[in-house]
Order: sequence, then C-alpha cells, then structure tokens
Amino acid sequence: MASCTIIIFGITGDLTRRKLIPALYRLLASGKLEEFALVGAAIDDMSVEQVLSGAREYLRDVDDEIWQQLVQRTYYQQLDFLEYGDFLKLAGLVERGEQEHGLSGSRLIYLAASPDFFCAITHGIAATGIAQRRGAGETPWHRVVYEKPFGHDLESAHEINDCIADQFHEAQVYRIDHYLTKELVSNISLIRFTNTVFEPLWNTHYIDQVQIVLSERVCIEGRGAYYDAYGALRDVVQNHMLELLALVAMESPEKLTGRFIQEERAKVLRRTRAVDGVLGQYKGYKDESGVPDDSTTETFALLKLEVDNPRWEGVPFYLRTGKCLDGTYSAIHIRFKPTDCLLVRNCPVESNWLTIRVAPDATFILSLNAKKLGQSEELAPIAMEFCHSCTYGPLTPEAYEVLLEEVIKGERSVTVRFDEIEYAWQIIDQVRSMNLPRDSYERGSEGPDEAIAFARKYEIRWRT
Ligand code: BG6
Repeated sequence: MASCTIIIFGITGDLTRRKLIPALYRLLASGKLEEFALVGAAIDDMSVEQVLSGAREYLRDVDDEIWQQLVQRTYYQQLDFLEYGDFLKLAGLVERGEQEHGLSGSRLIYLAASPDFFCAITHGIAATGIAQRRGAGETPWHRVVYEKPFGHDLESAHEINDCIADQFHEAQVYRIDHYLTKELVSNISLIRFTNTVFEPLWNTHYIDQVQIVLSERVCIEGRGAYYDAYGALRDVVQNHMLELLALVAMESPEKLTGRFIQEERAKVLRRTRAVDGVLGQYKGYKDESGVPDDSTTETFALLKLEVDNPRWEGVPFYLRTGKCLDGTYSAIHIRFKPTDCLLVRNCPVESNWLTIRVAPDATFILSLNAKKLGQSEELAPIAMEFCHSCTYGPLTPEAYEVLLEEVIKGERSVTVRFDEIEYAWQIIDQVRSMNLPRDSYERGSEGPDEAIAFARKYEIRWRT
C-alpha cells in the first residue's frame, strides 16, 4: 500500500482501541502496510506505550517484533479539540514523523471522535495545514475520514457537512460506515444482481417481508456517556441498518461500482418511511456509569418500514436491534411468498427464506422445501448453505482493516454520500417524532414484551 501518515483524533477512545489499532496491526503483520507513521491525538495525558497497550488485549497471538514496529512508528500528541495551539503542535509532530520515516506526505486523517467535535477538528486540521484542500488525483493526497454517527439529527448533519465543504473537496471526504466493508455486506449487491435465480423474484410479487437484525448480547460496556446521547436509533439504525436496507431494496445500478451503488442507495432511502415501532430500555441501564438516572434513551428498537415505490409496494421491512439481548448476530432474512399448495396434506407450504448472515459468521443460506425421507407427500425444509470461512478459510479481513486499506487506495465505495445520510436522518427524525414509549426489558432477553405483541400484530415470525 502507498506510503502515508495515519492521524487519528480520539486515539485513546473505545473505537480506536477495539478496532482501529488492531486493524493497523493486522495490516502491518500481513505486510500490506509498510511505509507509514501513526500519529494519535486525544485529550488524555498518556505515553505512546499506554495508548497502544489498551488495544493489545483485542488482538490474539501478537507477534512482539511486529508490535514493536508499530510502537516505533507511533507518535502521540495530547490535544484539546478546541485549542488551535494544540493543532499546531500536532502539525509539527506529523511533519517530524514523516521526516523520520521518509514518508510521502500523503495523509489519512481519521476522526474517531464525537460528531460534536467534527467541525472544530475540521477547522483545526485545515487551519494548520494538517489536511489541505486537494482535488481528486492530486498527490500527496490528504483524505479525511468521518466516523458515524454523522451528527445527531438532520440539522446537525447539515451543519457538519457545511463545515467540511468549506474546507475540503468532496473527493477527499470519507463519511464511513464500517458495515459496508463487512464481507457479506459488500456481497449483497453481487448476490442480487449476478444471479438469475434471485433478481427476477426480488420484488413485491415474490417477497413477503424482509427482516434486518443487529442483535447484541453486550450491554453498553463503559460507553455510557456516548451511548446515552445517541441510543439505538442513532447509533446503529441510522447508519448500519438503513444501509443494509438500502442495499437490499435498491434498483439495479448502472454498474456494480461505488458511485453507481451510492446513487441507488440514496434513491431508495429517499422513498423509505417508518410506519410503526417499539422502543425499549434494558433494566439497569440507568445504573450504568455515565447514564443519568432519568435517561429515556432507547437501547432496543424494532421498526416497521416501507419503501414507497412499485417494486416494494406493501412489503414490510422489519428492523430489530438492541443491546443486552439474548444473542449476538447481524443478518438479513428475506421471506418469499409461499407457492400455491397443490398437496393434499402439508398446506400451506413453508416459505422459502434467504438469509444473509453478516456476523459473527459470514454465510448465506437458502431454505427450500423437499420431500421427507420415505414419505411421499410430507415436506421438510432443507438448507443450502454457503459458509464463507469454509470456502475461503478463516482469515477474512475484519471490516476496519478493509476500510483503512480502501481509503488508502482511494476507493470511494466505502464512503456514504451526504444525501444518503440526509435521508437516513429524515427516517430517524420521523421515528423520534412518533414519541414511542420506552418499554423496559430484562437483560439477556429478546426485548420488551411489547415487541412480542408487535410481532403478533403483524404476524412476524422472527428468523434466527
Ligand atoms: C458500532 C456501534 O457502530 O457498531 C456499536 O457504535 C455496535 O454500538 C457496533 O456495537 C456493531 O458493529 P460490529 O461490527 O461489532 O457488529
């Protein structure tokens, strides 16, 4: 990969520790990343060793020699996001790192910080030249990555976007969603549009409903202050889950590449609206550190959405997510309409399901009906399963590894266009304006009882 400096704002935070540093380590260990320096900035007073050591526990089988290479190429600047003087010191450190390692001056600036600071950091890096306005194709390149959530509603998203547009060229801006780089997510449009057995059936005539699930057994794991300001709707529905919906529901792009896919994702999000929902909060959430006693933040969301176009007329899209639930997995389940029943017994016939399991395992499973052994008219569901790791081995790169690699290569398909973000916020703002109550649920359960009543009301049979 090209020589570059990776500058991370919020390097002492949870995301960097769990995902970004482990991803950089793996890129280094696999030989993909060679000529680089990592420059971190955050408010904490820490040494480079302390900054990195927090990430080590998220890696298995660390090779000490490779870890030391990472340590030697890492710099840290204590920095207040609102202090211009700190940005100047950071600019000096970036230049020092580039000189010491003979780097090209290309820079990837990653804002792994709260969106409340996106404007301040954007100004700081622009004013001190850490990132300069550069057009597409200009070298050395300066690319700025904005983590989700991009704002906390439509209005704040606009404010942030305006700040960015004042300083940078759109070609340097990466609004990212790591779900888009998960192996099976990046596969959805390929599965849909390159298989004759699916594409003609992908519409209201043959699809009965779509379920999109992002279920987590973990609770908020010390992220109380962040999580309480966002909740499930803004933390994962606005971005990861609506992007999954967009990939499933979009029309065929002109080409299966970034720009054309973005265009179709945006169009479908523009036509998506919320119809009904249930929001919940797990018992004991208010006792988590960083969460106020009177918090009404939702840790569970179940939504019924519809896409207002002829392809999806009358097809419900159910989105279900939550923390502290009974299982951890992310999947899309597509239920096809049952066939007319020609059998004497065994009617109605079970629907076919296509399941795209995004995590923890990457698989897709098509369930069909077939004859039960030895019975002439008895049916049983059978599953045709593709397991990614069984075919390609266990070394599938993690989403953040792919993401960093793609940004360094300048691949735009990992970015979300601003209008996609806008339409997604419109949907979330619409859900919030419904003023749904916060129903409580037990830790380790399936969610609130109201979600069970909701499933009964709409005759949803959750697929797992
Ligand atoms: C993050 C959310 O964006 O996605 C987390 O902030 C959530 O709350 C995570 O746990 C889920 O992503 P993954 O890759 O762990 O499934």
